[in-house]
Amino acid sequence: MAKEPIFILGIESSCDDTSAAVSRGEFMLSNVTAGQEVHRLYGGVVPELASRAHQQNILPVVDTAIKKAGIQKEDLSAIAFTRGPGLMGSLLVGTSFAKAFALGLQIPLIEVNHMQAHILAHFIREEGKAVPAFPFLCLTVSGGHTQIVRVDDLFEMHIIGETIDDAAGEAFDKAAKIIGLPYPGGPLIDQYAKLGNPDAFGFPHPRIPDLNFSFSGLKTSFLYFIEARLRLDSGFVEERRNDICASIQHTIVSILTDKLILASRQTGIRTIALAGGVSANSGLRNALQEQASKMGWDLFIPKFEYCTDNAAMIAITGYHKFMRGEFSSQGIAPAPRYQI
Ligand code: KG4
Ligand code: ZN
Repeated sequence: MAKEPIFILGIESSCDDTSAAVSRGEFMLSNVTAGQEVHRLYGGVVPELASRAHQQNILPVVDTAIKKAGIQKEDLSAIAFTRGPGLMGSLLVGTSFAKAFALGLQIPLIEVNHMQAHILAHFIREEGKAVPAFPFLCLTVSGGHTQIVRVDDLFEMHIIGETIDDAAGEAFDKAAKIIGLPYPGGPLIDQYAKLGNPDAFGFPHPRIPDLNFSFSGLKTSFLYFIEARLRLDSGFVEERRNDICASIQHTIVSILTDKLILASRQTGIRTIALAGGVSANSGLRNALQEQASKMGWDLFIPKFEYCTDNAAMIAITGYHKFMRGEFSSQGIAPAPRYQI
C-alpha cells in the first residue's frame, strides 16, 4: 500500500493554458493556471508561441501549485500529466517536465488522456456535492472538441457522437471573428447575447441523422448572411450586435441540446453531465437546465475552473489511475491524437 495521504501533482499543457494542481485523495488543494494572452494578436492559438509560453510558465505554475497546497515536493506520491490529445509542441513541454520531475523525485509517472480528464473532473470531491452515477452521458464541448460520451465507469467510456468538422467552441469563436470580435470570442458572444433576441435571425441546422455534429455549414451561412446584410447597411453589425449574438448562440445551443436529448432517448440514460470551456455559456446552461426539468434529467455542471482546461482534472484522473496501479514508463511520448 502507498503511504497515505496520497498527493498527486497534475500538469496540463495540451493547448494554450499552462496549469498545475495538487490533489489530496479525491480533494483538490490547489489549481493554478497561466493563460496566454499572446494569441489574441493572431486571432487564434499559434502552436509555436504556445509551446514557448509553456516553457516560460511551467516552473512558476508548478511551484505555486505546490506552495498553495501547503506541501513540500517530497510529499508528492506521483506526477500525472496530459499525454494528449493536443498540440505536439505544447504537450512536449508538460510531458518532458513531468518525466524529469518524477525521475528527480523517484516517484511514479502517470499519463492522462485530456478528454477522459474533462469528464473525470466531475469526480473532484467538494463538501456537500454529489457526483454523477454510472452510467451517464457527458457532453464535452470546448474549442477543440465536441463529443457525447457514454460513461459506464471511471475508465470505461465510449464516444457515441462527435463533430465531423468544427468544434462548438470554434463555431462560437469563428462567428465572433466574422462580426469583428477579438479571440476567443465565445465569452463575448455570450455577453452580448444576454441583451438580444434569440429569434431575431434564423440559421439552418445541419442535417446529420445520427449523434454526430457539424458546425462548418453554420459558419459559412453565418458569413454569407453577415456579408449580405452589410452590403445593404454598413452599420448592420454595430446596430444589431446583441440580436446577432443571441441568434447565433441560440442556434449553436439548440444543435447541442437537440443531440443530447436524442442521445438520452436512444440510450435511456437520464444522468447528464457537461464538460469543457463552452459549458460556461449561459445559454447552454439555461437550455440544459430547462431540459433537465422537462425530461427528468439529473444534471451535473462542474465549477467553471474545472470546466475549462485545468490541471485539477489531470490530478483527479491521476489519482484514480494511481489507485489502480496504472503507471507510465520514462520512455513515454506525447500522443497528439490520443483517443478516449
Ligand atoms: O476547454 P477550453 O478552455 O479549451 C479548449 O480545450 O478548447 O475551451 C475554450 C473554448 C473557446 O472556444 C471559448 O470561446 C469557449 O470555450 N468559451 C465559450 C464561453 N466561455 C468559453 N463559448 C461560449 N460562451 C462562453 N461563455
Ligand atoms: Zn480541453
